[in-house]
Amino acid sequence: MKAMLRRKMAEAPAVFIGILVLCCWIAVANAEYKIYQDPKQPISKRVKDLLGRMTLEEKIGQMTQIDRLVASAEVMEKYYIGSILSGGGSIPSPTASPETWVDMVNGYQKGSLSTRLKIPMLYGIDAVHGHNAVYRATIFPHNVGLGATRDPELVKRIGAATALEVRATGIPYAFAPCIAVCRDPRWGRCYESYSEDPKVVRAMTEIIPGLQGDIPANSRKGVPFLAGQQKVLATAKHYVGDGGTTKGINENNTLASRHDLLRIHMPAYHDSIIKGVGTIMISYSSWNGVKMHANRDLITGFLKNTLRFRGFVISDWQGLDRITSPPHANYTYSIIAGVGAGIDMIMIPYNYTEFIDGLTSLVKNNFIPMSRIDDAVKRILRVKFTIGLFEHPLADYSMTKYLGSQEHRELAREAVRKSLVLLKNGESANKPLIPLPKKASKILVAGTHADNIGNQCGGWTIQWQGQPGNVTVGTTILTAIRNTVHPETKIVFNENPDPGYVKSNDYSYAIVVVGEPPYSETFGDSTNLTIPDPGPSIITNVCASVKCVVVLITGRPVAIQPYLTQIDALVAAWLPGTEGQGVADVLFGDYGFTGKLPRTWFKTVDQLPMNVGDQHYDPLFPFGYGLTTVPVRGN
Ligand code: BGC
Ligand code: BGC
Repeated sequence: MKAMLRRKMAEAPAVFIGILVLCCWIAVANAEYKIYQDPKQPISKRVKDLLGRMTLEEKIGQMTQIDRLVASAEVMEKYYIGSILSGGGSIPSPTASPETWVDMVNGYQKGSLSTRLKIPMLYGIDAVHGHNAVYRATIFPHNVGLGATRDPELVKRIGAATALEVRATGIPYAFAPCIAVCRDPRWGRCYESYSEDPKVVRAMTEIIPGLQGDIPANSRKGVPFLAGQQKVLATAKHYVGDGGTTKGINENNTLASRHDLLRIHMPAYHDSIIKGVGTIMISYSSWNGVKMHANRDLITGFLKNTLRFRGFVISDWQGLDRITSPPHANYTYSIIAGVGAGIDMIMIPYNYTEFIDGLTSLVKNNFIPMSRIDDAVKRILRVKFTIGLFEHPLADYSMTKYLGSQEHRELAREAVRKSLVLLKNGESANKPLIPLPKKASKILVAGTHADNIGNQCGGWTIQWQGQPGNVTVGTTILTAIRNTVHPETKIVFNENPDPGYVKSNDYSYAIVVVGEPPYSETFGDSTNLTIPDPGPSIITNVCASVKCVVVLITGRPVAIQPYLTQIDALVAAWLPGTEGQGVADVLFGDYGFTGKLPRTWFKTVDQLPMNVGDQHYDPLFPFGYGLTTVPVRGN
């Protein structure tokens, strides 16, 4: 018995050492040097190494983008999902803090990091006028207002501020800028377009180096770029011709010669690529009857081969489904057409197993060649390596301080000041109404948009469609007016006063703030472009008996000609965002008006489409119009 025990104990070290050796061997094998994990290796080598290790399942996962609503750490791990998005309004809660966002994004990321190859997922969001889905973020004017500033350097600074706010929530990727050239204001997305003039849109692609950072001099053109962890990957969208659809109908058909497509809608893509834009999103619209999501000639042929774009191409939301009419009528065909056309990442966004199963079987049965999958995955991995995602997959709270910072609000206020366009100022140039006197006995402020943050921000604010009311933190135009006038000036706010009241109250003057309700995408399509009720009657009721300034809060020119004679001064303020103080800054002469119309202002809708340079051009106010004022001291 004792002998046996002694023998066993003598054997024990040998067994123990054996196990130890095995463990070490496994550990060494696990920690084996992998080129793709070495940040000192060139990106091309890392991509090649990683791609060579991937199974078909892992590759198709990389091509899959899902909405956070259907995401979880488990789903990320199980399906090797490459990317998550927040669709419009897909937010943890309407007032979620930046810390909540960071935790949420990291939670999904941990799922991705527990896969075999530990490829981090890429989280993207629509940050189209600041980090607009997030409570307390700085909301900048929508693009139409930025177009009116004609100030690309300002727009670049807005890009940089937006990048910091997006990173504050742990997100590295923005679906912006929209570089649509809106040729018809009946389009519900016209406010997402900087201008009807391709030259203005081209200049405003300066937002890309703002978001991503400046590409180093002499760097290769067309290669995606990111200047570090304070910057975000950008998206030029929607390729191509989204702003040229017939009658401005959203997602419809752009009828144009190849020459006009290249002359009007394409140039800003060229600029974006030169500036290193990482991703390009495809448009729902068609060009001459062919869905852009299925247009191999323009995606693979022109974008990838001719323009030599090296980032990745992303579909729009359910963009593959919408290749057929009705949408999703033949999803297998949609996958062949969309992936075959050259789309690399698919914004599914919900039914990802249908896509994964469909694409897998199409590849296995040789309907889609492996070379197409490899091209897509290479591009996605190239972008992920470029932005440092493998080295920095998880965010911390160190940047939360940037969200809605005072500095960014000052920048937004500057943008508001420069975006306002003065269309009328009194009966004649020598009897201007603006700058308004700060000292007056009694001023009436009226209108549905005077004291309403949601209305002045428009669509794509917290919710996809935006929403009237107290949706986030900011300064309403009414508050801004109160902040600006002389302490003895009495401000009376009456949203919708009746004519008798206005007449009997002896106001020095009135400021009427009316416009369009918030909307986005197809919900904003309009055939008449009228200001909805009670806007017109507020104008009429107030302007009938007191000198009035009308401030329009709209995403585009609207039908204003019928009221123009009653209005003493008229300001197009577009969709200014949270910093309403910028409106008061110019109304009361602390700063001058400098904005120029980024769009032609029509007389009647039956003139549309009507753009600068057209043969028959008979506008109410021409493209580029805008009266100026000089700042007054001691007002
Ligand atoms: C829009 C895109 C947007 C995407 C994700 C789509 O409906 O067309 O501009 O980036 O949704 O929210
Ligand atoms: C999503 C948006 C998207 C839209 C497109 C909405 O449900 O939230 O992100 O742009 O659908 O139809």
